[in-house]
Amino acid sequence: MIRVRFEDARGGGVQEVQAPPGVRLLEVAQNAGQPLEGTCEGQMACSTCHVIVAPEDFERLPPASEEEEDMLDLAIGAVRTSRLACQILLTDTLDGLTLRMPSAHRDMQGR
Ligand code: FES
Repeated sequence: MIRVRFEDARGGGVQEVQAPPGVRLLEVAQNAGQPLEGTCEGQMACSTCHVIVAPEDFERLPPASEEEEDMLDLAIGAVRTSRLACQILLTDTLDGLTLRMPSAHRDMQGR
């Protein structure tokens, strides 16, 4: 099993979950109750699955495709280590991956 850690952007602690290899990070986050909409279900057409990867873990991820980079350009609150959770498949090398939800996510809902 691969451990994934979600940090609360407002300092409310860390939630650690485990998932098997091959599962999409978007599903892991949603199963953990993280506020990720993933509206387009992985079609790279929404950017509501935007997560911020801990800088020390970023290099462990396979590089983003050009399409993903383009969507991230449109994502609110995107930073250098932003990724789309629907594009990341868990592998053993990602064990311990730490992520944060962009704080703009909650504001985006319902607007
Ligand atoms: S779910 Fe829409 S871009 Fe990831």
